Amino acid sequence: MERKQAPDGAAGPAAAGAGEAKALPLTFGDGWVPKAQRRKLYVLLLEDITVSFDGFRALDGLTLYLREGELRSVIGPNGAGKTTLMDVMTGSTRPDSGEAWYSETVNLLEEDEVSIAQAGICRKFQKPSVFETLTVFQNLELALKGPKTVLGTFRARLSGEDRDFLGGILELTRLGPEAGRLAGLLSHGQKQWLETGMLLSQKPRVLLLDEPVAGMTPQEIDRTADLLRSLEGSCTIVLVEHDMEFVRAVASKVTVLHQGRVLAEGTMDEIGRDPEVVEAYLGGAAC
Ligand SMILES: Nc1ncnc2c1ncn2[C@@H]1O[C@H](COP(=O)(O)OP(=O)(O)OP(=O)(O)O)[C@@H](O)[C@H]1O
Ligand SMILES: [Mg+2]
Repeated sequence: MERKQAPDGAAGPAAAGAGEAKALPLTFGDGWVPKAQRRKLYVLLLEDITVSFDGFRALDGLTLYLREGELRSVIGPNGAGKTTLMDVMTGSTRPDSGEAWYSETVNLLEEDEVSIAQAGICRKFQKPSVFETLTVFQNLELALKGPKTVLGTFRARLSGEDRDFLGGILELTRLGPEAGRLAGLLSHGQKQWLETGMLLSQKPRVLLLDEPVAGMTPQEIDRTADLLRSLEGSCTIVLVEHDMEFVRAVASKVTVLHQGRVLAEGTMDEIGRDPEVVEAYLGGAAC
């Protein structure tokens, strides 16, 4: 398991041996990569981020690297800084210090929320927000076509390509049989999948999910884990979650936040064996 530290830009195994010609390591963490090149390696790079509220540090030197296509779960006790982390990624909270880059060239600390969303970082909040009086398909259509009036959206006809694309999303979210149903008639779980489908319709490069299975039945939770696993590789997903069984089922790499810092990263089994994690997060109980 990796024990995380704030990078100092010069540490790491490959920093040893001045003048030695070494091939660049592929990952930071496994070895040192010059600062200028790190941004090329990660779709999201956050280094030494600090966010203070009235002197209290919600994030305290947090460093996190996410690779393109990765599915990453972020866990931690209440108040660890998980939501604040997402707020920084989406531009709704400005850190006091640190760096946050998306897609190598987008400085997240200089862009506003709208341009960050347009650049491909989409966020799903806990409560599903679908248009209940429209059908499932119409909801997806509206999301695909972007911010127009509802009437304007439905006047413009979908191309065959768009129709196929939305068909793929219906299949992924297993909402095909519900395509013609009003969204208001769906179960809570189906509404959550529809909203995820609406975000996917916008072709995000990074999808941020804040507790997507809260309030779902066990069967719905299993299906959601299937859905997330099937998305792995097609977009980068950051999953903030309290449901440990779900995190285990998703089988992603897990980052543990504690007091605004990354405490540990690894598989669920690895972090479950880490005494510091057990102490900080689980209060003595096993994962
Ligand atoms: N706008 C704010 N003003 C003051 N304090 C805040 C603000 N937002 C967050 N905090 C504080 O920062 C800390 C981190 O909050 P955050 O919401 O990021 O935690 P979290 O890990 O998402 O917790 P939870 O699991 O309960 O959702 C908490 O102590 C919280 O009270
Ligand atoms: Mg939160």
